[in-house]
Amino acid sequence: MIIKNKNIFHLQGKHVSYIMAVNECGDLLHYYYGKKLRDRSYEWVKQKWSVWNGYGPDKWTLDICPQEYPAYGYTDLRTPAYSIVNKNGGTVSRLTYKSHRITENSAQEIDGMPCLFVGDKHAQTLDITLEDQNAGFEVIVSYTVFDEYDVIARSVKIVNTSDKEITIDSVYSTVLDMPKDNYELIYFSGGWAKERGMYRSAVKQGVKIDISNARGGSGHNINPFVMLASEGADETSGEVYSMTLVYSGNHSTMLECDQFGNVRLMQGINPFGFEWTLKKGECFYAPQSIMCYSDKGIGGISRELHDVMRQNLCRSKWTNTERPILINNWEATYFDFDEEKLLSIAEEAKNQGVELFVLDDGWFGDRNDEETSMGDWNVNLKKIPSGIDGFAKKINNIGLKFGLWFEPESVNPDSDIYRKHPDWIVHSPGIEPTQSRFEYLLDLTRDEVCEYAVNAVCNILSSANIEYVKWDMNRPMTDIPYKGFNHKFTLGFYKVMDFITSSFPDILFEGCSGGGGRFDAGVLAYMPQIWTSDNSDAVKRMEIQYSTSIGYPVSSISAHVTAVPNHQNGRMTSLKTRADVAYCGIFGYELDITKMSKSELEEVKKQIEIDKKLRPLMLNGDFYRLENPYKSNYCAWSMVSKDKSEAFVMCAKILSEANCEEKRVKLQGLDPNMDYIDEYTSNVYGGDELLYNGIKPEFGLYDFSTHIIYLKKYNGEIR
Ligand code: DGJ
Repeated sequence: MIIKNKNIFHLQGKHVSYIMAVNECGDLLHYYYGKKLRDRSYEWVKQKWSVWNGYGPDKWTLDICPQEYPAYGYTDLRTPAYSIVNKNGGTVSRLTYKSHRITENSAQEIDGMPCLFVGDKHAQTLDITLEDQNAGFEVIVSYTVFDEYDVIARSVKIVNTSDKEITIDSVYSTVLDMPKDNYELIYFSGGWAKERGMYRSAVKQGVKIDISNARGGSGHNINPFVMLASEGADETSGEVYSMTLVYSGNHSTMLECDQFGNVRLMQGINPFGFEWTLKKGECFYAPQSIMCYSDKGIGGISRELHDVMRQNLCRSKWTNTERPILINNWEATYFDFDEEKLLSIAEEAKNQGVELFVLDDGWFGDRNDEETSMGDWNVNLKKIPSGIDGFAKKINNIGLKFGLWFEPESVNPDSDIYRKHPDWIVHSPGIEPTQSRFEYLLDLTRDEVCEYAVNAVCNILSSANIEYVKWDMNRPMTDIPYKGFNHKFTLGFYKVMDFITSSFPDILFEGCSGGGGRFDAGVLAYMPQIWTSDNSDAVKRMEIQYSTSIGYPVSSISAHVTAVPNHQNGRMTSLKTRADVAYCGIFGYELDITKMSKSELEEVKKQIEIDKKLRPLMLNGDFYRLENPYKSNYCAWSMVSKDKSEAFVMCAKILSEANCEEKRVKLQGLDPNMDYIDEYTSNVYGGDELLYNGIKPEFGLYDFSTHIIYLKKYNGEIR
């Protein structure tokens, strides 16, 4: 709900208030962001102005004022939200309020980029137009607030109202000026096979931190999701503010703590390598950034974001539909397969209850390794003599759905398509382009290249009964020809992805980028699940899935049981541990099932039965992290149904210890007045007992031991 009271705008979500006001000089200042306030007279807003050390038209300085969209070159000397070379060649800018508009139930208008949609929720959008009369441009800052969420989605549009060109050097999507407090910054950093590690540091006066990525996609190294937490905020307590950028290109989250300890947090396109020229009348849209607030700690942020992303971000009809349990041939065969081998895997998988067979890399051109054929999307008849259509039919005849891997954005130099169109790759004129994984990137800023990628994929998808697509992208972006190219490429990527996913609405799409190198809300708007990491070791996955779940729903986290010794780190874990960790995710297998022993196959069959029961819960439940593997020898999490009548709990002890303490894990989210039965052991518990006294997981005396519990509401007598 948006309340406009004189010069004050009050945005109210479910439990959150966000207040800003236009001062006497026309500046749009920020007043409050936090726990929901009633709509009152706002006398205190005026009082707050006077506290800021001499507010008044004659002697004010914006350097001490919290602002909504700060400029540079006037009186605020902190990092600005934007920087523009204006029609006169100058960079000084001052934005003042011009007008505003409140619209009911309409999503933000962000040309060419994904954003939250309204659906059946009640939402309002506030667009405030700020103008720089002198420099000749307008900035429209937009806020969408939903009655039933604690999120506020923001975006920015810049319009050139002058008669000359202007150049945008930087444009952040969200700015949050927060008063002094003991904040901690939490962000997610890593690399290939170790994506989204969780890092936390105290915010000290004077620091300026740029959490940014310029690798092309949103990246393995830094995720476009951050949190600003009150000191010591944990999973269940403390105030936490988060920002999620709905964007898959180079991004930046900038934090600056000024001389008074006030904090400015901004998120948007990475200004490094960015520049955008606007001719007379043209406009530029910055991507959407979703702010979320919780006074119930990090867990509160997660559950809110999970709901928002599951219900108002991803357009796929699969978002809230049970996903098929798959088997993928990549770690089973890599490039070394033929039809017979694949069919034997599919048959054995079907026997155990698998529902979807995914043919990964290596099915096209002459591709027997990474060095050739990328971009030549014709089936390799030596490996698949039946062709894709015929092979899909064979898989369907076994009783499985059929899925296929693509990497639509790349080509190998050794490919027909590259030989035909060497100028189609991302390159800088006069410089030998760099290969990565023997690949070049296709230049998706060009319409004819996008058209090629779309046609190549769509032709295959219409040629056979393909019900799932894994969309991979395996290299960073180099050889960038000009500033702003990465953003233009990202728009091309969205155009291609939008066309293909909307042309095949029944296909389940899974995002991937050398593992989890493009795990972001932009991709999630089109594809409901993403391959989380190439690191499939169950122990490393405890960390990766734990931290990924902070910002993204469990229903987006693809998790496979793979062979041991693990192919990435050589670790040996039991089949049970591998499955127990994968249940809280989109469950599947990626190993040569034909090599499993009879007893292992029996175990796989049981695991699949378990997951089939659990998966509706995994799609729609509330996720609680109970033990942090980054901090201790344990990892535990649980998924609780919205009505609290069902819960799945996974507890893990990482290293075995002799003579160690009795471990108790206190559950969360259950109804203290309900009784529960553990379907695996038939033990009966009171909800209060599980919440306040906890459970004692039964760990084996070996490393990486896991214990799972499946609680259902129990109406019988208790003991
Ligand atoms: C990287 C992906 O993360 C893997 O799962 C696999 O699809 C390979 N690419 C194939 O080249």
